[in-house]
Amino acid sequence: MALRLPKQDYQDIERIVEFDFVRATEAAALNSLRWLGRGDKEAADAAASDAIRGMFDLMNICGEVVIGEGIKDEAPGIFKGEQLGTWVPGSPQFDIAIDPIDGTTNISKGAPNSISCIAAASPEKGVKVALRDVPSFYMSKLAYGPRVIEYMKKRGDSLHLEMPIAEVLGIVARAVDKRVQDVAVMMLDRPRHKEIVEQIRAAGASLRMIGDGDIAAAIAPSLSDSDVDLYMGIGGSPEAVLAAAGIKCLGGDMQCKMWPRDEKERKKLIADGYEKDLDRVYSADDLANGQNIIFCATGISDSALLRGIRAHGGVTAVTHSILMRAKSKTVRFIRARHNLQTKTIRLRSDNREHII
Ligand code: FBP
Repeated sequence: MALRLPKQDYQDIERIVEFDFVRATEAAALNSLRWLGRGDKEAADAAASDAIRGMFDLMNICGEVVIGEGIKDEAPGIFKGEQLGTWVPGSPQFDIAIDPIDGTTNISKGAPNSISCIAAASPEKGVKVALRDVPSFYMSKLAYGPRVIEYMKKRGDSLHLEMPIAEVLGIVARAVDKRVQDVAVMMLDRPRHKEIVEQIRAAGASLRMIGDGDIAAAIAPSLSDSDVDLYMGIGGSPEAVLAAAGIKCLGGDMQCKMWPRDEKERKKLIADGYEKDLDRVYSADDLANGQNIIFCATGISDSALLRGIRAHGGVTAVTHSILMRAKSKTVRFIRARHNLQTKTIRLRSDNREHII
């Protein structure tokens, strides 16, 4: 008689469930694709959120959303406090940060740079808050890859979010072995970046401006074959935490600081007890703490992180996803071919499987 192995006391639960997380972002991407270029970002967000909730309804986990998507527009997304998963007693717990679509405006315009993404963390000894819910609307961000970190360790140079931009660019150029004029800096195209843009241009580096979607942009410098050397600028705080989770898994880093939009927000942050934190520079590890972290994303339209979906006449669709864990630092690029005549996606809205 075959011997049964004793029941595993599994300490590395992310390893088992991680593929279901990527199924959720794949489903979000596939279900929102029909809204690409149709001028309706709410509909795209709703479709992505419906598919994510539907996938989580099949997962035996106790998931709690600790960071929902940007609070910037009353989008029909997935918000803080929501429970995801079946919550069957005894199921593994996860804190979840989620952006069903980062780059909803891009989708509505049919423009590049939109992804669906999730970061999740299971409880870990010594980690109080794995995914930090930053109270400000925006953060000022600087993100770079492992080559910059190695260079700084070797040479004793160090980057700081608030140092003059020309110095930042000089360090990055030396680290990635390029001339400053060949360093590519990605940034959201926003009027608030006017001065930074002028300084980058004065230093001679090359800008890659994007309309929306700074999670992919902030992670891009950490990819080994990326054309982007540095991400810089002011973007959403929830997006900073999601990016930090991904950057950590890739061995890069990020420096971020709360960036109150106006005096009213600054005063509110102070009144809420965050005065000391206003000057704090958070690293990727401060925003996404510990080792039990999973990050996954699926491209909807092409970005510096992932290719978008390639749909072939309603017959097949190919998705491109990244799935990684902070503990093992395994980085999986998953190219999935979906047969659209047989594949179904479960939607929460009616609890049924749907042909896409
Ligand atoms: P949404 O897709 O959720 O609308 O966010 C897009 C985005 O570009 C983020 O990637 C970025 O962090 C934030 O909006 C920037 O905010 P704003 O558009 O207000 O500058």
